[in-house]
Amino acid sequence: MPPEFHGKAGGILSAGRKTAGRRTMRAVVVTGGNRGAGLAAARNLAGRGYDMILLCRDEQAGRRALGSLHSPQSAGNHRLVATDLASFGSVRAAAARIAGMEVSISALVNNAACLPVRRAESRDGFELQIAVNHLAHFLLTNLLLPQLRGADGPSRIITISSAAHSGPAFNFRDPNWERRRYRRRRAYQQSKLANVLFTLALARRVAGTGIQAVALHPGVYDTGLLRSYVSGLPGGGAVRRFVARDAHRAGPIVGELAAGRRGEDLNGLYFDMGVRAVPAKAARDPRAQERLWRWSAAATGLEPEAGEGEEVPGSARPAGGGGGDPEGGGARELPLR
Ligand SMILES: NC(=O)c1ccc[n+]([C@@H]2O[C@H](COP(=O)([O-])OP(=O)(O)OC[C@H]3O[C@@H](n4cnc5c(N)ncnc54)[C@H](OP(=O)(O)O)[C@@H]3O)[C@@H](O)[C@H]2O)c1
Repeated sequence: MPPEFHGKAGGILSAGRKTAGRRTMRAVVVTGGNRGAGLAAARNLAGRGYDMILLCRDEQAGRRALGSLHSPQSAGNHRLVATDLASFGSVRAAAARIAGMEVSISALVNNAACLPVRRAESRDGFELQIAVNHLAHFLLTNLLLPQLRGADGPSRIITISSAAHSGPAFNFRDPNWERRRYRRRRAYQQSKLANVLFTLALARRVAGTGIQAVALHPGVYDTGLLRSYVSGLPGGGAVRRFVARDAHRAGPIVGELAAGRRGEDLNGLYFDMGVRAVPAKAARDPRAQERLWRWSAAATGLEPEAGEGEEVPGSARPAGGGGGDPEGGGARELPLR
C-alpha cells in the first residue's frame, strides 16, 4: 500500500500541529508487541496495511518482531520505540517520541502485561502489576489522545484485559499490596479489573469524539504470561496442553476490534474474544470506574480534570509522572535495520 496523506493542507492533524499536506502514516501502536498476543496483533494489523509502532522494552526482541511484520499490504514503515512500562518517565518519553512522528493513530492496543513470581515494584514505587498492566497504559493512552483524535475515521483504544478480571472489587485501600500478604494471581485479577474499569471511564470521556474505547478478553493462549499464571496451580499443565491455543490465533481477534467493524460504534464495550460480553459486576460500578480514574491520574501525575484533584485514598506514592526518568527510563525510537 502506498503511503497515505491524511488531512487537508493547513488541517490540524494531531496535538495542535498544523500540517500542510505532509505525509502521515496510518499507524497502530501496540505495547509489548514483541511476542505473544501483541506480536500476533501487530502481524495482523501490518497485514491490513497499517504501519506499526511497537513499544517494547527489549531492543533485540523488538527488532526481531519488527523484522517479521513485512507484508505486501504494508508500506513497511514500522517503528520500534524502546519503552519500559515499569517507568512513567519511559512512558512519557515514548509518548513524546510518537508525538514527534508525523502520525495519526488509528488504534492503540494496550497489550503488555506482567505477572511476576514475587511482589516487585516499578521505578516509581508502585506494585509492578498495577504499574505495568494498568497505570502505564492509563498514562500512555491519555498522552496519545491528541494523535488518536487526529485519525482518519474512528480510532480505537483496545485495552487487553482478561476473563480473570472477574473477582473482588478493586481494593482502593491497598492498591499497592503493602498491607496484605501478596497474592500474585489476585494482584493480576486486580490489574485486569483495572483495565476494564479504565476502559469504561475512558469511554465516557471520549464519547462523540471519534475515539472508541474497548476492553477485550483475548482468549487463552500458551504464552509466557499464561505459564506464569498457571505455575504452581493444580491442573495448570493441563490448561496449557488442552485449553490454551497458539498465540498467533489472537491476531485476528485483536486486529478486527482495532481496525475492523468500521461502521460500528464499539465505545464502552467489553468483548470475550470476538463476541460482545458483559464484564464482571465489579467492573460495571461507575463509582469504582471514576475513583480508579482519579487515583490513576494522581499516581501518574496527570493534570486533574475540572472538579477533580481531591486526595484519593490509596495513592500512597507522590505523583510519579512529572519529571522523567534519567536512570534509564527514557524511550528511544529505534530505526528498523
Ligand atoms: N495468554 C493468555 O492466556 C491470556 C489470557 C487473557 C488475557 N491475556 C492478556 O493478553 C495480553 C498479552 O499477554 P500474552 O499472553 O501475549 O503475554 P506474553 O506473551 O507473556 O507477552 C507479554 C508482553 O508484555 C511485555 N511486557 C511485560 N512487562 C513489560 C514492561 N515493563 N515494559 C514493556 N513491555 C513489557 C513483554 O515484553 P518482554 O518480552 O520484554 O517480557 C511481552 O511483550 C496481556 O494483557 C494479558 O493479560 C492473556
